[in-house]
Amino acid sequence: MVIVVGSLNMDLVVRAPKIPRPGETVLGSDFKQVPGGKGANQADAASKLGAETAMLGAVGKDSMGDQLIQALKKDGVNVEMVLKKENLPTGVAAIVVEDSGNNAITVAPGANSALTPDDLSGMEKVFEKAKVMLVQLETPIDTVKASLRMARKNNVTTILNPAPATELDDEIFSLVDILTPNETELELLSGMETDSIEKIEAAGKHLLKKGVSKLIITLGSQGSIHIEKDFVKLHPAYSVKAVDTTAAGDSFNAALAVSLAKGEPMENAITFATKVGAMTVTKHGAQTSLPLMGEVLEFDAWYEKMKVEER
Ligand code: RIB
Repeated sequence: MVIVVGSLNMDLVVRAPKIPRPGETVLGSDFKQVPGGKGANQADAASKLGAETAMLGAVGKDSMGDQLIQALKKDGVNVEMVLKKENLPTGVAAIVVEDSGNNAITVAPGANSALTPDDLSGMEKVFEKAKVMLVQLETPIDTVKASLRMARKNNVTTILNPAPATELDDEIFSLVDILTPNETELELLSGMETDSIEKIEAAGKHLLKKGVSKLIITLGSQGSIHIEKDFVKLHPAYSVKAVDTTAAGDSFNAALAVSLAKGEPMENAITFATKVGAMTVTKHGAQTSLPLMGEVLEFDAWYEKMKVEER
């Protein structure tokens, strides 16, 4: 079983020719409301990839909260541990997606910020059943820490996707089995430059010394780098035409968790996650873009077709 501790947001998405600069107004095109939030996206992706998945998080007592819970439930996620908080609205994310597929996201966390370590205390039974826990940084850091401690106590493999980037203390690093930053997150966490593969490797090794067991650094269209003590491997990305990169990192992390929970070796898990991430960027929205296991099993045929269409 995969357990996800994290955020649920309603994404308010506008498509625009480009992301505005500070002070600039850009005329966009269509507007959509799509279920999102890094935690919820990861839970939804894991469930669509066939893993028994439980989500632990918080929404407000409002219609957006109900919609987010329903969206996860429909895709098979166990939402019994998604709490409804009084006096706080459900989290929302304002997202601009430009024609290149890149996005800019601002999150108003609302109820996500009220998920406390105490909320986890009654939930140890679920951790006892889990193989892998996924957690990100859109909920309070004390809650992230409490979840990592509880996972470690129950021999659950921990994956921390350190997004959005924030500085972390050494106790957190020591509780993480697999850290999955992108280059900018790695730069902030290590305090080192990450503008070349050599520098990324050095920054990654610096975090290994702080107690993280393994790092998988995601590099977007460049692929990812897997770093362990005395081991570095670059995994190239599949070349696809991105229409929206929202949730690509989330689906990558979820796929990694699903594969590792099945007992697959890390190399296979990264290959699987790379395929899932590639499929995600070819569709619009967060949870609306996450592939089903059946679709990923047909990846090779899908990829050939994509290449032909691009020619
Ligand atoms: O990772 C993508 C997610 O980040 C979006 O769905 C948005 O809600 C923000 O949390």
